Amino acid sequence: MAHWTEDFFTGFWSEMQKAAPMTDAAAEEARVLRRILRLRRGSKVADVPCGDGRISLELARAGCRVVGVDACEPSVRRARRQFRKAGLPGTFHHGDMRDLGLPREFNAAINWWGSFGYFDDDTNLEVLRGFADILVSGGRVLIDQVNRERVLRQFLKVVSFENFGVRVTTRNSWDAKRQRINGSWLFERGGKRTRRRSSIRLYTPSQMEALMESAGLTLEFICDGKTGLPFTRGSRRMSAVGRKL
Ligand SMILES: C[S@@+](CC[C@H](N)C(=O)[O-])C[C@H]1O[C@@H](n2cnc3c(N)ncnc32)[C@H](O)[C@@H]1O
Repeated sequence: MAHWTEDFFTGFWSEMQKAAPMTDAAAEEARVLRRILRLRRGSKVADVPCGDGRISLELARAGCRVVGVDACEPSVRRARRQFRKAGLPGTFHHGDMRDLGLPREFNAAINWWGSFGYFDDDTNLEVLRGFADILVSGGRVLIDQVNRERVLRQFLKVVSFENFGVRVTTRNSWDAKRQRINGSWLFERGGKRTRRRSSIRLYTPSQMEALMESAGLTLEFICDGKTGLPFTRGSRRMSAVGRKL
């Protein structure tokens, strides 16, 4: 059976992403990311997966040298177009986060907005090792997930919202054995309906610390990456920053 990521991000998801303007939210997110990762003008950053380059664009505007990788080809093309339009340098590859094929020259590798935990435990570790591998000594990696404890405490079995004309209804379940949140998604617009599935391994802070260690990284701190504030039980995000020594 095909892995859920192979079709989840095509179709309605990609259309919603395309319809979303490059927002002020991305500028604010990138500002916090620059601060917590101590990025400067000239810092070399891998944005993986980069989606349509919304964070890459803001980092490039601040003088970072960005390379983005994403498995969704239309998103990669959009990222390239955005950069051309803005007259900014940046390189984008259509590729897989499990096999980056990038040189060891990055000051930071960013896995932003719930893009980690897509695979089984061994493969998630391999993904993190791949990130560590492209960092220069002293480089940092950021892994951003939802705060598992908060999600489980306020578990929403059904979530429904409308985004750029698409009605999205998600039915969630928690697989306690595998520690994964599984989603069954219904996308609707006009008469058209599409169903998709998702499955994401959510890590606790101590599990994330152990994962980082297994990948040759030292956990520096955990914060809420949207605000940059220290992580608490009530944080929405669990954004872990690891350092390669
Ligand atoms: C939730 S989006 C986040 C994108 C981006 N980080 C952002 O903040 O806008 C997740 C992205 O992961 C990409 N993706 C899914 N599986 C992937 C894989 N195996 N390798 C690379 N990218 C992948 C999807 O195409 C999608 O663009």
